Amino acid sequence: MEDHKKEGRYSRIYQQLETLVRKSNNMQARMATIVAVLHHKMEYFFWTGFYLIDNGEMTVHIYQGPVACQILEKDKGVCWAAFNKKETVVVEDVHQFPGHIACDSRSNSEIVVPFKNREGEIIGVLDVDSSEKAAFSEIDARWLEKVMELVWVS
Ligand code: SME
Repeated sequence: MEDHKKEGRYSRIYQQLETLVRKSNNMQARMATIVAVLHHKMEYFFWTGFYLIDNGEMTVHIYQGPVACQILEKDKGVCWAAFNKKETVVVEDVHQFPGHIACDSRSNSEIVVPFKNREGEIIGVLDVDSSEKAAFSEIDARWLEKVMELVWVS
C-alpha cells in the first residue's frame, strides 16, 4: 500500500477505535476490538494478534487469521526478538530472519510491536504478518504503537 494511503487508513482506524474502545474498560474487550478492526480494514494484514507472556512462555492471545502457534520457543523468532529488545521489529522478508517461527508458510513479512501494561512494563507483543513481501514500514510501526495505547486510554 502506498504511504499516503496507509497514513489515511491508519488515521481513520485510529479515530474509529478511539470511540469504540471507550465503550468498555475491559482490557481483553479492547484488545479484541483493536485486532478485529485492524485485521479487517488493512487488506495486507494476513495474521493480526497478541502474544502475551504467561508463566515465562510467549503464549498466543486474541487474534484474527489462520490458526497460529500457541507457544513460541523461548528467545527464538521475531516476537521474542521484539520483546527482548524492547522495541518494534520490522522484517521485510521473514525467510531471511534467523530463527523466524513460521506458523503459516504463507507469511512473507512481519512487524512485531512490544505491548506494555498500564505501568509501562512490556507484557507481550502485537504481531502482524503479511503474505506480501516488505509490507510494513516505519508508518506501520508508528501507528501500531499509538493504536496499542488505546487499550489503556480513559
Ligand atoms: N512469526 C512469529 C511467530 C508468530 S506467527 O507469525 C503468528 C515469530 O517468528 O515470532
